[in-house]
Amino acid sequence: MNHTDTPKTPASFHVKSFGCQMNVYDGERMAEMLGAQGMSAAADGAQADLVILNTCHIREKAVDKVYSDIGRLRREDGSRPMIAVAGCVAQAEGAEISRRAPTVDIVVGPQAYHRLPDLIGMAGRGEAAVDTDMPAASKFGALPGRTKQARPTAFLTIMEGCDKFCTYCVVPYTRGAEISRPWAAIVDEAKALVDGGVCEITLLGQNVNAWTGEDGRGRLTGMDGLVRELAAIPGLHRIRYTTSHPNDMSDGLIAAHGEIDKLMPFLHLPVQSGNDRILKAMNRSHTVETYLRIIDRVRAVRPDIAVSGDFIVGFPGESDAEFSDTLKIVDQVRYAQCYSFKYSPRPGTPAADMDDQVPAEVMDERLARLQAAINRHQLDFNTASVGRTMAVLLERKGRHPGQLVGKTPWLQSVHVTAPDLAIGDMIDVDIISAGPNSLAGQLSRRKAA
Ligand code: SAH
Ligand code: SF4
Ligand code: F3S
Repeated sequence: MNHTDTPKTPASFHVKSFGCQMNVYDGERMAEMLGAQGMSAAADGAQADLVILNTCHIREKAVDKVYSDIGRLRREDGSRPMIAVAGCVAQAEGAEISRRAPTVDIVVGPQAYHRLPDLIGMAGRGEAAVDTDMPAASKFGALPGRTKQARPTAFLTIMEGCDKFCTYCVVPYTRGAEISRPWAAIVDEAKALVDGGVCEITLLGQNVNAWTGEDGRGRLTGMDGLVRELAAIPGLHRIRYTTSHPNDMSDGLIAAHGEIDKLMPFLHLPVQSGNDRILKAMNRSHTVETYLRIIDRVRAVRPDIAVSGDFIVGFPGESDAEFSDTLKIVDQVRYAQCYSFKYSPRPGTPAADMDDQVPAEVMDERLARLQAAINRHQLDFNTASVGRTMAVLLERKGRHPGQLVGKTPWLQSVHVTAPDLAIGDMIDVDIISAGPNSLAGQLSRRKAA
């Protein structure tokens, strides 16, 4: 395979995102930027002149998937698209990617993708096109503004990077140091999204609640001040944020949950483990007690808040007794939903070199037990919704004719048969049944509480 088989000046592109919401946001910004350059979006990779694999480095499986995807981009006639590897694998592995997969034309990190148009030009000329520069500040300024959006909900990254250095995690290395975007840039982007048809915005950051900046009058403020400002935008009905770190749950942000109607009653607050020794080894810098105390305080101001979390099972040295503490915290918090993962050793992180790595079959067994507990609480939470009337924002078409799927304020998916309604409508729905992963409802004559 050589470069003569690939388009030199691609006219169409396809972006495939593999990672977290911030990775998805980056994918959307890349697509908007290439669109603004006159390139067209292809429905899938098979039809695109340029395929961008927007990768995730968080667990080994995610990385393996990228390399198998690269292999699959070769077409029956022997040709292939121009291939760009973007995202966190690009940052972590850099030029090494082109050595492992020589068909890759472009390698671009998560803080450098505003330079994609130049890199595409270089790749077209057969030059090595690798950019893993770190400073995030320049990226946002160089991207085109937000315009018409295809969906009623949108992500908005307000904070880049992470300074926490949990011992298992690659994010501080792939995304760099914590940097807050300026207030005005965020408010302008939110307004542009609303002008583009969006009525729900999810603010994003690896530690989104660590955001700080000067407000419009030059006063130092935290994320609660920002949420208050965004809540004043007419036409914006719902505000969410993710992911938050327990140590950055400020008094102001907790209070905001009791005061700002547009701030949805949902808090994603990962704890990772229910055992203090493991939390310490993870360098989480909070204890089980301080975590539970935060949840209590948020519930005191917003009793109906849905809490979600992330868990890692099988961190090096985790004993059976320590793992049962994780099951215990799941029962104590009664999570509305959770993500749970088997520990994956990541190159360059301290935990990867720790003794006592937990055998795969022990991790499998622990994950199954944890997920059973999580599912039980998820079902309980959803079942408690039956009989209530809820405000639902319709977000996409369902599988059946006339069916639409929307979200409640508590981020539950609801299926409704409503042929006369459209995506983007906000409706009141009577919840009639519940499963572990979704609800079913019908259009209500009552107003949601
Ligand atoms: N900044 C967020 C989330 C970061 S990544 C936070 O600190 O909560 C999302 C989730 O992936 C983490 O919460 C953690 O549960 C999981 N994760 C991160 N590194 C991992 C690893 N090496 N192995 C398994 N899961 C991991
Ligand atoms: Fe990773 Fe910890 Fe930072 Fe979250 S807080 S991104 S888990 S280092
Ligand atoms: Fe993955 Fe990077 Fe997000 S490693 S989880 S895409 S910040």
